[in-house]
Amino acid sequence: MSFPKDFIWGAAASSYQVEGGAYEDGKGLSVWDIMCRQPGKVWDGGTGDVSSDHYHRYREDARLMGEIGLKAYRLSISWPRVIPEGVGTVNEKGLAFYDRLVDALLENGVQPWVTFFHWDYPYSLYRRGGWLNGDSPEWFAEYARVIVDKLSDRVSYWMTLNEPQVFIESGHQTGRHAPGLRLGYTDLLTAAHNSLLAHGKTVQVIRAGARVKPVIGAAPVGVTSVPATDSQQDIEAARKHMFSIPEKVFMNNTWFADPMVLGKYPEDGIKLFGSEMPDIPDGDMKTICQPLDFYGANIYYGQIVRAAGDGGIELVTGADIPALTTMDWRITPRVLYWGPRFLYERYGLPIVITENGMANIDWIHSDGKVRDPQRIDYIRRHLRELERAINDGVAVNGYMVWSIMDNFEWAQGYKQRFGLIYVDYDTGERTLKDSAYWYKGVIASNGEKAISE
Ligand code: FCB
Repeated sequence: MSFPKDFIWGAAASSYQVEGGAYEDGKGLSVWDIMCRQPGKVWDGGTGDVSSDHYHRYREDARLMGEIGLKAYRLSISWPRVIPEGVGTVNEKGLAFYDRLVDALLENGVQPWVTFFHWDYPYSLYRRGGWLNGDSPEWFAEYARVIVDKLSDRVSYWMTLNEPQVFIESGHQTGRHAPGLRLGYTDLLTAAHNSLLAHGKTVQVIRAGARVKPVIGAAPVGVTSVPATDSQQDIEAARKHMFSIPEKVFMNNTWFADPMVLGKYPEDGIKLFGSEMPDIPDGDMKTICQPLDFYGANIYYGQIVRAAGDGGIELVTGADIPALTTMDWRITPRVLYWGPRFLYERYGLPIVITENGMANIDWIHSDGKVRDPQRIDYIRRHLRELERAINDGVAVNGYMVWSIMDNFEWAQGYKQRFGLIYVDYDTGERTLKDSAYWYKGVIASNGEKAISE
């Protein structure tokens, strides 16, 4: 079998999406608490006030994770739960929640993989300029110190930022996500730069303070281009497309990953943003570019491309499977071959797929089961491609399903169900979907089941 013997089989979620308890035990407000109060921002008026109620049901959830056999659960910490104003006084009750959660996971044989920031930014700091404020990287580092002090005797796996591409673009450019801003490029680039500095400083904080040897990465979107055929020209076209910034958008790999891993912004982006680039002080890149232990990538679908006759690149519409998920996302399993392969070639770090999965039309059938064959097939096809990448020499250390349980899907609220575990939002009751039982078999066979059946 080609999945390495200590392969990390996991599932992921994030604080605002599953916890609820939005106003409990001294938690401060996050920008998402505020966003959800604005009419029309979230489908059907959904909020994270209660959500999957993980804040109260975390013990049961940790037990279910153990039952599925997860080796890892990727969680995030709510910064304003731990430090209500973002800086200053620590809310011991909030911090204690993560302390108990980590213990509950470990008791069930599940390694906690902790993300520092999965978008629920402290509202108080937003009012001081948020990511635009030059002090924001230091605020973040201070928060990271509190978490490392408390949890690093038991937590080894850390991720700094989740999908900076999305919180910059959707949060600060289109306003679809919190904090709902529509900034110009200089401000967007400043916010992005400060978030990169926060990443670098956090890596330093972890390395300096961790009590057990840390394994550190980030979890950006793995924006993936898939060659239409296996011809050398198409592969070259896809590689080029995956690592270029053809237009002024933040949904790309290099603007974030090149600074983190290679210590510089990509030339094509610098040219494109031109005079809108903020001044970057000497030394910032040194802070941003810290040694990392893995390259986390959230990959759901990709863009299929081919070489055009004139030496250019042509985008191919369509997908490997001619159906859309309920997110209207195309299904392109080959992303889990080409994404890891191209990222590994460029950045040289072992890959962890920190998110992959699909939203489906799930409900509890009259016999009490949640049948989600589409999700099983989606994951199976993606794992086969991932295995093919491993066979071809790509170092892949782990794979995490998004998500362990149904949860609040940002602007789409409760319209989308991504979970392996079904959540009844009226009662909080959990039901393992067919995919959870299937994934249990995959884990128990170290991937064999997904490849051979
Ligand atoms: C990713 C996010 C995650 C979830 C999935 C569906 O962009 O990181 O929180 O919403 O998409």
